[in-house]
Amino acid sequence: MTADEAPPADGGTGRAGPPAFDISVANQARMYDYLLGGKDNYAADRAAVDAQLAIYPDVVSAARANRAFLGRAVRYLAAEAGIRQFLDIGTGIPTAGNTHQVAQEIAPESRIVYVDYDPIVLAHARALLISHEAGATDYIDADLRDTDAILAQASELLDFGQPVAVTLVAILHAIPESDDPHGIVGRLMDPLPPGSHLAVSHMGTGLLDSKTRRGLEDHSGRAMQQRLTARSREEVARFFAGMDLVPPGVVRVEDWRPEPGADAGQSVLWGAVGRQP
Ligand SMILES: C[S@@+](CC[C@H](N)C(=O)[O-])C[C@H]1O[C@@H](n2cnc3c(N)ncnc32)[C@H](O)[C@@H]1O
Repeated sequence: MTADEAPPADGGTGRAGPPAFDISVANQARMYDYLLGGKDNYAADRAAVDAQLAIYPDVVSAARANRAFLGRAVRYLAAEAGIRQFLDIGTGIPTAGNTHQVAQEIAPESRIVYVDYDPIVLAHARALLISHEAGATDYIDADLRDTDAILAQASELLDFGQPVAVTLVAILHAIPESDDPHGIVGRLMDPLPPGSHLAVSHMGTGLLDSKTRRGLEDHSGRAMQQRLTARSREEVARFFAGMDLVPPGVVRVEDWRPEPGADAGQSVLWGAVGRQP
Protein backbone atom coordinates (compact mmCIF):
# COMPACT_ATOMS: atom_id res chain seq x y z
CA MET A 1 0.00 0.00 0.00
CA THR A 2 1.43 3.42 -0.85
CA ALA A 3 1.06 6.46 1.40
CA ASP A 4 -1.52 7.80 -1.06
CA GLU A 5 -3.69 4.69 -0.67
CA ALA A 6 -3.28 4.35 3.08
CA PRO A 7 -6.27 5.15 5.30
CA PRO A 8 -5.98 8.38 7.30
CA ALA A 9 -3.63 7.89 10.23
CA ASP A 10 -6.34 9.13 12.60
CA GLY A 11 -9.15 7.07 11.10
CA GLY A 12 -10.41 10.20 9.36
CA THR A 13 -11.83 11.80 12.46
CA GLY A 14 -8.92 14.01 13.44
CA ARG A 15 -9.89 13.01 17.01
CA ALA A 16 -7.30 10.35 17.59
CA GLY A 17 -6.60 11.16 21.23
CA PRO A 18 -3.00 10.87 22.34
CA PRO A 19 -0.86 9.44 19.55
CA ALA A 20 0.48 5.95 20.18
CA PHE A 21 4.25 5.62 20.15
CA ASP A 22 4.39 4.29 16.60
CA ILE A 23 7.52 5.11 14.65
CA SER A 24 6.01 3.83 11.41
CA VAL A 25 3.61 6.80 11.22
CA ALA A 26 4.90 10.38 11.14
CA ASN A 27 3.82 12.77 13.84
CA GLN A 28 3.85 16.48 14.52
CA ALA A 29 6.26 16.51 17.48
CA ARG A 30 8.92 14.41 15.72
CA MET A 31 8.55 16.17 12.34
CA TYR A 32 8.97 19.53 14.07
CA ASP A 33 12.03 18.18 15.87
CA TYR A 34 13.49 17.14 12.48
CA LEU A 35 12.67 20.55 10.97
CA LEU A 36 14.50 22.27 13.83
CA GLY A 37 17.57 20.04 13.38
CA GLY A 38 16.85 17.67 16.32
CA LYS A 39 17.64 13.95 16.59
CA ASP A 40 14.39 12.59 18.06
CA ASN A 41 12.76 11.58 14.78
CA TYR A 42 12.43 8.49 12.61
CA ALA A 43 12.36 7.57 8.91
CA ALA A 44 8.57 8.05 8.64
CA ASP A 45 8.87 11.57 10.13
CA ARG A 46 11.68 12.52 7.76
CA ALA A 47 9.80 11.10 4.76
CA ALA A 48 6.70 13.09 5.74
CA VAL A 49 8.76 16.30 5.97
CA ASP A 50 10.24 15.54 2.53
CA ALA A 51 6.71 15.13 1.16
CA GLN A 52 5.71 18.45 2.77
CA LEU A 53 8.75 20.12 1.19
CA ALA A 54 7.59 18.94 -2.22
CA ILE A 55 4.23 20.65 -1.58
CA TYR A 56 5.57 23.74 0.20
CA PRO A 57 9.35 24.34 -0.08
CA ASP A 58 9.51 26.86 2.81
CA VAL A 59 8.59 24.38 5.55
CA VAL A 60 11.99 24.62 7.27
CA SER A 61 12.05 28.41 7.47
CA ALA A 62 8.42 28.39 8.64
CA ALA A 63 9.30 26.02 11.52
CA ARG A 64 12.22 28.25 12.53
CA ALA A 65 10.09 31.38 12.27
CA ASN A 66 7.48 29.72 14.49
CA ARG A 67 10.05 28.84 17.14
CA ALA A 68 11.44 32.38 17.05
CA PHE A 69 7.88 33.74 17.48
CA LEU A 70 7.47 31.61 20.62
CA GLY A 71 10.69 33.11 22.00
CA ARG A 72 9.69 36.71 21.22
CA ALA A 73 6.19 36.19 22.60
CA VAL A 74 7.48 34.73 25.89
CA ARG A 75 10.08 37.51 26.18
CA TYR A 76 7.35 40.10 25.63
CA LEU A 77 5.10 38.42 28.19
CA ALA A 78 7.82 38.23 30.85
CA ALA A 79 9.59 41.53 30.20
CA GLU A 80 6.81 43.87 29.10
CA ALA A 81 3.55 42.34 30.33
CA GLY A 82 5.02 41.27 33.69
CA ILE A 83 3.76 37.69 33.44
CA ARG A 84 5.29 35.24 35.91
CA GLN A 85 3.12 32.17 35.24
CA PHE A 86 2.96 30.25 31.95
CA LEU A 87 0.83 27.36 30.75
CA ASP A 88 2.59 26.08 27.60
CA ILE A 89 0.30 23.60 25.83
CA GLY A 90 1.74 21.70 22.85
CA THR A 91 5.26 21.97 24.23
CA GLY A 92 7.03 19.80 21.68
CA ILE A 93 10.27 17.90 22.16
CA PRO A 94 12.59 20.11 24.24
CA THR A 95 15.01 22.14 22.14
CA ALA A 96 16.81 25.47 22.44
CA GLY A 97 14.77 28.28 23.96
CA ASN A 98 12.14 26.36 25.90
CA THR A 99 9.56 28.60 27.55
CA HIS A 100 11.00 28.32 31.08
CA GLN A 101 14.49 29.16 29.85
CA VAL A 102 13.30 32.31 28.06
CA ALA A 103 11.00 33.44 30.89
CA GLN A 104 13.39 32.64 33.75
CA GLU A 105 16.22 34.50 32.04
CA ILE A 106 14.07 37.60 32.52
CA ALA A 107 12.28 36.64 35.75
CA PRO A 108 13.91 33.64 37.49
CA GLU A 109 10.89 33.23 39.78
CA SER A 110 8.63 32.35 36.82
CA ARG A 111 6.55 29.18 37.10
CA ILE A 112 5.84 27.18 33.97
CA VAL A 113 3.52 24.22 33.42
CA TYR A 114 4.10 22.30 30.20
CA VAL A 115 1.43 20.13 28.54
CA ASP A 116 1.74 17.73 25.62
CA TYR A 117 0.00 14.46 24.74
CA ASP A 118 2.80 12.80 22.81
CA PRO A 119 4.67 9.98 24.57
CA ILE A 120 7.97 11.10 23.02
CA VAL A 121 7.61 14.53 24.63
CA LEU A 122 6.81 12.85 27.96
CA ALA A 123 9.98 10.78 27.57
CA HIS A 124 12.01 14.00 27.33
CA ALA A 125 10.07 15.90 29.98
CA ARG A 126 12.95 15.72 32.48
CA ALA A 127 14.75 18.41 30.44
CA LEU A 128 11.76 20.70 30.99
CA LEU A 129 11.83 20.20 34.74
CA ILE A 130 15.26 21.73 35.28
CA SER A 131 14.00 25.02 36.61
CA HIS A 132 15.85 27.99 38.01
CA GLU A 133 15.75 27.40 41.76
CA ALA A 134 13.82 30.65 42.27
CA GLY A 135 10.97 29.41 40.05
CA ALA A 136 9.39 26.06 39.21
CA THR A 137 8.29 23.93 36.27
CA ASP A 138 5.93 20.99 35.92
CA TYR A 139 4.83 18.70 33.11
CA ILE A 140 1.33 17.37 32.43
CA ASP A 141 0.79 14.48 30.03
CA ALA A 142 -2.62 15.50 28.63
CA ASP A 143 -4.64 16.23 25.51
CA LEU A 144 -5.48 19.91 24.87
CA ARG A 145 -9.12 18.85 24.52
CA ASP A 146 -9.17 17.73 28.18
CA THR A 147 -9.31 21.29 29.49
CA ASP A 148 -10.73 20.36 32.91
CA ALA A 149 -7.90 17.94 33.60
CA ILE A 150 -5.28 20.46 32.41
CA LEU A 151 -6.67 23.29 34.56
CA ALA A 152 -7.03 21.07 37.62
CA GLN A 153 -3.44 19.81 37.41
CA ALA A 154 -1.97 23.18 36.41
CA SER A 155 -3.57 24.81 39.47
CA GLU A 156 -1.27 22.71 41.66
CA LEU A 157 1.68 24.87 40.55
CA LEU A 158 0.04 28.01 39.15
CA ASP A 159 -1.99 30.49 41.22
CA PHE A 160 -5.11 31.25 39.18
CA GLY A 161 -5.63 34.37 41.32
CA GLN A 162 -2.69 35.91 39.42
CA PRO A 163 -2.34 36.42 35.64
CA VAL A 164 -1.30 33.42 33.56
CA ALA A 165 -0.05 33.36 29.97
CA VAL A 166 -1.38 30.42 27.96
CA THR A 167 0.76 29.59 24.92
CA LEU A 168 -0.87 27.56 22.13
CA VAL A 169 1.93 27.77 19.59
CA ALA A 170 1.59 25.56 16.49
CA ILE A 171 -0.96 23.27 18.14
CA LEU A 172 -4.46 24.56 17.34
CA HIS A 173 -4.18 23.58 13.67
CA ALA A 174 -4.00 19.98 14.94
CA ILE A 175 -7.54 20.39 16.37
CA PRO A 176 -10.27 19.84 13.77
CA GLU A 177 -13.43 21.96 13.71
CA SER A 178 -15.41 18.96 14.99
CA ASP A 179 -13.51 19.25 18.30
CA ASP A 180 -14.47 22.94 18.66
CA PRO A 181 -11.03 24.63 18.97
CA HIS A 182 -12.61 28.00 19.81
CA GLY A 183 -14.62 26.42 22.63
CA ILE A 184 -11.44 24.78 23.96
CA VAL A 185 -9.60 28.12 24.08
CA GLY A 186 -12.59 29.77 25.76
CA ARG A 187 -12.72 27.07 28.45
CA LEU A 188 -8.99 27.51 29.13
CA MET A 189 -9.10 31.30 29.38
CA ASP A 190 -12.43 31.67 31.27
CA PRO A 191 -11.12 30.83 34.75
CA LEU A 192 -8.02 33.04 34.36
CA PRO A 193 -8.00 36.53 35.90
CA PRO A 194 -7.70 39.91 34.14
CA GLY A 195 -4.19 40.52 32.84
CA SER A 196 -3.87 36.91 31.67
CA HIS A 197 -2.61 36.51 28.12
CA LEU A 198 -2.97 34.11 25.21
CA ALA A 199 -0.28 33.53 22.53
CA VAL A 200 -1.20 31.59 19.38
CA SER A 201 0.50 30.62 16.14
CA HIS A 202 -1.54 28.83 13.50
CA MET A 203 -1.26 27.59 9.91
CA GLY A 204 -3.19 30.16 7.87
CA THR A 205 -5.43 29.86 4.85
CA GLY A 206 -4.85 33.45 3.78
CA LEU A 207 -1.12 32.80 3.62
CA LEU A 208 -1.31 29.80 1.31
CA ASP A 209 -2.77 29.39 -2.14
CA SER A 210 -5.64 26.92 -2.00
CA LYS A 211 -3.76 24.18 -3.88
CA THR A 212 -0.84 24.26 -1.40
CA ARG A 213 -3.21 24.40 1.57
CA ARG A 214 -5.18 21.39 0.34
CA GLY A 215 -1.90 19.60 -0.39
CA LEU A 216 -0.62 20.12 3.18
CA GLU A 217 -3.96 19.25 4.80
CA ASP A 218 -4.46 16.13 2.66
CA HIS A 219 -0.90 14.98 3.25
CA SER A 220 -1.33 15.31 7.03
CA GLY A 221 -4.57 13.32 6.88
CA ARG A 222 -2.86 10.49 4.99
CA ALA A 223 0.60 10.36 6.49
CA MET A 224 0.52 11.88 9.98
CA GLN A 225 -1.02 11.03 13.33
CA GLN A 226 -2.53 14.55 13.34
CA ARG A 227 -4.67 15.94 10.54
CA LEU A 228 -3.84 19.64 10.15
CA THR A 229 -6.45 22.35 9.48
CA ALA A 230 -5.42 25.77 8.19
CA ARG A 231 -7.58 28.70 9.41
CA SER A 232 -8.16 32.21 8.16
CA ARG A 233 -6.94 35.39 9.85
CA GLU A 234 -10.50 36.03 11.07
CA GLU A 235 -10.80 32.53 12.51
CA VAL A 236 -7.48 33.00 14.32
CA ALA A 237 -8.59 36.44 15.59
CA ARG A 238 -11.71 34.72 17.00
CA PHE A 239 -9.50 32.77 19.46
CA PHE A 240 -8.99 36.19 21.11
CA ALA A 241 -12.69 37.09 21.36
CA GLY A 242 -13.21 39.40 24.35
CA MET A 243 -9.47 40.09 24.65
CA ASP A 244 -7.36 43.07 23.59
CA LEU A 245 -4.91 42.13 20.86
CA VAL A 246 -1.37 43.28 21.58
CA PRO A 247 -0.10 45.35 18.61
CA PRO A 248 0.47 44.53 15.79
CA GLY A 249 -2.47 42.08 16.11
CA VAL A 250 -2.78 38.97 13.95
CA VAL A 251 0.14 38.94 11.51
CA ARG A 252 2.58 36.45 10.04
CA VAL A 253 4.68 35.09 12.89
CA GLU A 254 7.85 36.78 11.55
CA ASP A 255 6.06 40.14 11.56
CA TRP A 256 4.98 39.94 15.22
CA ARG A 257 7.28 42.44 16.98
CA PRO A 258 10.32 41.42 14.90
CA GLU A 259 13.88 42.05 16.01
CA PRO A 260 15.22 45.23 14.35
CA GLY A 261 16.54 44.49 10.87
CA ALA A 262 14.66 41.17 10.49
CA ASP A 263 13.40 40.31 6.99
CA ALA A 264 9.66 40.57 6.28
CA GLY A 265 7.71 37.37 6.84
CA GLN A 266 7.01 34.65 4.30
CA SER A 267 5.73 31.84 6.51
CA VAL A 268 2.29 30.27 6.37
CA LEU A 269 1.65 30.89 10.06
CA TRP A 270 -0.48 33.54 11.71
CA GLY A 271 0.72 34.70 15.12
CA ALA A 272 -0.84 36.90 17.79
CA VAL A 273 -0.87 37.68 21.51
CA GLY A 274 -3.91 38.96 23.39
CA ARG A 275 -4.60 40.29 26.88
CA GLN A 276 -7.67 39.42 28.91
CA PRO A 277 -9.21 42.64 30.25
C1 LIG B 1 4.73 21.70 16.13
S1 LIG B 1 4.92 21.25 17.82
C2 LIG B 1 5.08 22.88 18.55
C3 LIG B 1 6.04 22.93 19.74
C4 LIG B 1 6.16 24.33 20.38
N1 LIG B 1 4.87 24.82 20.85
C5 LIG B 1 6.72 25.33 19.41
O1 LIG B 1 5.95 26.01 18.75
O2 LIG B 1 7.95 25.43 19.26
C6 LIG B 1 3.23 20.88 18.27
C7 LIG B 1 3.11 20.06 19.55
O3 LIG B 1 1.72 20.01 19.91
C8 LIG B 1 1.44 18.71 20.41
N2 LIG B 1 0.00 18.46 20.27
C9 LIG B 1 -0.72 18.38 19.12
N3 LIG B 1 -2.01 18.15 19.40
C10 LIG B 1 -2.10 18.09 20.76
C11 LIG B 1 -3.18 17.87 21.66
N4 LIG B 1 -4.43 17.66 21.21
N5 LIG B 1 -2.92 17.87 22.98
C12 LIG B 1 -1.66 18.07 23.44
N6 LIG B 1 -0.59 18.27 22.64
C13 LIG B 1 -0.82 18.28 21.32
C14 LIG B 1 2.29 17.79 19.58
O4 LIG B 1 2.51 16.56 20.24
C15 LIG B 1 3.58 18.61 19.42
O5 LIG B 1 4.50 18.30 20.42
